[in-house]
Amino acid sequence: MNPFAPGLFTDRVVLITGAAGGVGGALAEVLAPLGARLVLTDRDGHVLHQRAQALGASAYAADLSEVAQIERLIAHTLQTHGRLDGLAHCAGIWVEGPSEEATEADWQRCIDVNLKAAFFLCSRTIPALKTTRGAIVTISSDAGVVGNAGAAIYCASKGGVGVMTKALARELAPAGVRVNALCPSDILSPMLQFQAERYGAGDPQAYFQRLLAHYPQAESARFLRPEEVAWHAAWLLSPACEGVTGTNAMLDFGLSAGY
Ligand SMILES: NC(=O)c1ccc[n+]([C@@H]2O[C@H](COP(=O)([O-])OP(=O)(O)OC[C@H]3O[C@@H](n4cnc5c(N)ncnc54)[C@H](O)[C@@H]3O)[C@@H](O)[C@H]2O)c1
Repeated sequence: MNPFAPGLFTDRVVLITGAAGGVGGALAEVLAPLGARLVLTDRDGHVLHQRAQALGASAYAADLSEVAQIERLIAHTLQTHGRLDGLAHCAGIWVEGPSEEATEADWQRCIDVNLKAAFFLCSRTIPALKTTRGAIVTISSDAGVVGNAGAAIYCASKGGVGVMTKALARELAPAGVRVNALCPSDILSPMLQFQAERYGAGDPQAYFQRLLAHYPQAESARFLRPEEVAWHAAWLLSPACEGVTGTNAMLDFGLSAGY
């Protein structure tokens, strides 16, 4: 069901963060056969290197919560490939719990990777993307648009990504660089599995059912598959999407559309 024409990304260099995870990994698997030259990054070096090897991509392990590591990653990308056409920020973490119990460390680790890294990845790739009139896609969330009870820090990080995306889209439009955010609902990925195990009070299935109860599809509600999110990210990165910039594109079964 891959909706793309072969060759759509031929010789385009795309940097994907979170590439050891669900969405970042799926995006790498969508873009590699379309001809993209990929640089995959994650803090999890083992899965990252395996995946990169399988796809003929290059791998660079980095902790994106540090701006210095982001700068070294981008320098490596440009040294290896000489150009950059696309950036997809798919790395992220989930933080949940009663807000009255939140610690400064909870705030910091969530904001650092979900929002600070999103900004500095964009900031430090702008010169290269201006040269190629490239594109950025950030993975925000429906939680960047509507509040999720018990996830105020996560919502703050994703809401920040959404409006940052709009500001960057306006700033970079004169240079032909497009910037979009994708806002998916729950995705069947290691993150969702982690959420259910960590915060499901010993009953992950009940946690999943509580999430699905919010969807307007009622009995047919389901979670997204990582590749479904990856197709939309690939579309937003592709030259076929030239007129689209500054969006917070909802991919959420109507979850955020009202009630
Ligand atoms: N899974 C969901 O239900 C869901 C829903 C909406 C939005 N999202 C967002 O989609 C994106 C992708 O999530 P996913 O479901 O693929 O999650 P995932 O946990 O499968 O993948 C996220 C990856 O980010 C990496 N990462 C985390 N912190 C990092 C850091 N400091 N430096 C480098 N890498 C780091 C992890 O190692 C992991 O491989 C995230 O931004 C997430 O917030 C997820």
